[in-house]
Amino acid sequence: MWTLDPAITFLNHGSFGACPTAVLEEQSRWRARLEAEPVRFFMRELEPAMDAVRTRLGAFVGCDPEELVWVSNATTGVNTVLRSLRLKPGDELLTTDHGYNACTNALAFAADQAQAKVVVAAVPFPLASADEVTRAVLGAVTPHTRFALIDHITSPTGLIFPVEALTRGLQARGVEVMIDGAHGPGMVPLDLRALGADWYTGNLHKWVCAPKGAGFLHVPRARQAALRPLVISHGANATRTDRSRFRVEFDWTGTADPTPWLSVPQALATLEQCEPGGWPEVMEKNRALALEARALLARSLGVKVPAPEEMIGALAALPLPGREAGPGALPGSGGLDPLQNRLFEEHQIEVPVFAWPGGGQRLIRVAAQRYNRRADYERLARALGKEAPGSASNQG
Ligand SMILES: Cc1ncc(COP(=O)(O)O)c(C=O)c1O
Repeated sequence: MWTLDPAITFLNHGSFGACPTAVLEEQSRWRARLEAEPVRFFMRELEPAMDAVRTRLGAFVGCDPEELVWVSNATTGVNTVLRSLRLKPGDELLTTDHGYNACTNALAFAADQAQAKVVVAAVPFPLASADEVTRAVLGAVTPHTRFALIDHITSPTGLIFPVEALTRGLQARGVEVMIDGAHGPGMVPLDLRALGADWYTGNLHKWVCAPKGAGFLHVPRARQAALRPLVISHGANATRTDRSRFRVEFDWTGTADPTPWLSVPQALATLEQCEPGGWPEVMEKNRALALEARALLARSLGVKVPAPEEMIGALAALPLPGREAGPGALPGSGGLDPLQNRLFEEHQIEVPVFAWPGGGQRLIRVAAQRYNRRADYERLARALGKEAPGSASNQG
């Protein structure tokens, strides 16, 4: 079902996902159709096809499909919203120290341009309850807080943040809330209507296993008039009246490959068929495996599990004994942690290890997707016993 290299123990679904063969085949069919007659495809066939995909996605994430637009990834979703905010000098943009570096950079860029300020709430890790997140974030709100960017599932620490309580608490204080759900769709059940955030962006190329470049932005109707795409194109002066300007502008931002999005229904169906209970069972089983992996690794590293079980989805991060941090392990950050390289080169295990400035810690983060087995994490534990100085299994 998967195209992953069998020679590698792949424990990093979190970074870029992985795409099943059936989904890649569907993408190839769409590409063939496009290239058979590009004008027919783009001018006549694409719009109804994208409408159908949007309807399917709306049902999956729990919202009106008219409130969804396609973006290539969550980074683009975040940038799109930030670029449309009309910030004033002195405004504060709030985020947390569990945020994703690229998106925190986007916040800093938007703040710089308006002489506004980024405020980073320090959220503890390890932590004993989700309330610690709510307290830290709401405690950082001031009369100047205009906007908050909150991760649904955090990248460095793999935590499910209490986004419902945060959204309610922030909105009650007059703060506009964007949820960065890069890891949300396919890892946890979504009901965007009930969540009620001002904007939600999500990736489908991570836990829905769509081809790379399939993201979305959820924009409630009341927010649509004020939001413009990052790329201004034909829609800006379109005279159509059958669709909103919002729809027309976001649906065409220049010639691009729409096949990642067109393949989303196939991705949804393929993962759904992995388990008799469909998506709910896929999510539960991934979560159960992540918890099992976390317990096993914590024992072998001689560390305590750093967060309560209810904050765990399909990712689990653990602090590594020994605080010396290598370079970051994210694209554009200037290389990989030496331990991550050793695990890959000596043990053929792909797993992220990185310095997390938040708590001055060095973390290892495992992911659990349907192709992973308990034995994968046992291999990692044995490899860490050899490679991670100071770990319990290394000493014992
Ligand atoms: C919380 C969070 N936001 C944003 C992103 C960026 O995703 P993309 O590179 O698809 O834009 C990631 C990627 O892992 C993430 O974890």
